[in-house]
Amino acid sequence: MAVATLEVALERGNPLPTKNSMKITISDLHYTYPTGVTALAGISLTVDSGEQVAIVGQNGAGKTTLVKHFNGLLQPTAGSVLIADWGTTEYSVSKLARRVGYVFQNPDEQLFCKNVGQEVAFGPKNLGYDKEQVERLVKDALAMTELTDKVETNPYDLSATWRKMVALASVIAMDTDIVIFDEPTTGQDAVNVTRIAHVVKALRERGKTVITITHDIDFCAENFERVIALSQGRVLLDGQANDVLGQEEILATTYVDPPQLTRLGKRLGFKKTVRNEEEFLAELKR
Ligand SMILES: Nc1ncnc2c1ncn2[C@@H]1O[C@H](COP(=O)(O)OP(=O)(O)OP(=O)(O)O)[C@@H](O)[C@H]1O
Ligand SMILES: [Mg+2]
Repeated sequence: MAVATLEVALERGNPLPTKNSMKITISDLHYTYPTGVTALAGISLTVDSGEQVAIVGQNGAGKTTLVKHFNGLLQPTAGSVLIADWGTTEYSVSKLARRVGYVFQNPDEQLFCKNVGQEVAFGPKNLGYDKEQVERLVKDALAMTELTDKVETNPYDLSATWRKMVALASVIAMDTDIVIFDEPTTGQDAVNVTRIAHVVKALRERGKTVITITHDIDFCAENFERVIALSQGRVLLDGQANDVLGQEEILATTYVDPPQLTRLGKRLGFKKTVRNEEEFLAELKR
């Protein structure tokens, strides 16, 4: 169990949380920006503790607007978002940061310290962990993101690729039960996409909930078991990755193309929807 969860449970005098203690419950969520643009037009869904979910959909579909509700950066115009038993309108952004970590699409919106070590330590320090815990969390987050040898470097002396890893590390170090990545692979080279996939896997092994917005359909297909497709502020599809990625025509309405191998499998008449090389080869052998 994550330290933060335990701490919150003890703080509240509650019994220890159960497996589903960090369930996200979204009920009929609507959001209209002050400009009058309605970005979310009635979203209802739940995400269980430990789920790995990819959110896809065309530009402007409402993906970022949706996840900004999970940590209170945006407040519903109507409807509600619960992070376990916390309604996001009743808890401050800094309180919600104990439960939900959010990595911005652009790391430069997030980084402001003189060196990588300080940057990554900022979050856990702010959450009130003691010195030893902060050191342990920082060391662990740096190792997970392969930044250990860059601890003294100024983030702005790093390439944009590595700055992205610093942004990931600074959120991972907060040890929240829920971690959100907004477009983690955009602008990243293949090596770094693999690094980011390793981070997602490591978080899954620790039982974290990982919600990732992505336009990278191969990254989505390789790393996520559940896929939610949004279109015009509504849920278009939500289900097992194979089922969702198999709905080529519906996905096309939100400008998402299934992976090439998925489409090829369909053309070859595979009964099962395949989403990666392994599944493709297994079907081919049948
Ligand atoms: N700060 C804002 N003020 C006004 N309208 C906004 C703001 N941010 C987003 N919008 C609008 O809300 C809608 C949803 O935007 P959002 O950023 O949530 O989409 P998205 O799915 O994350 O898109 P992208 O894939 O381009 O990141 C769009 O019509 C967008 O123009
Ligand atoms: Mg976005």
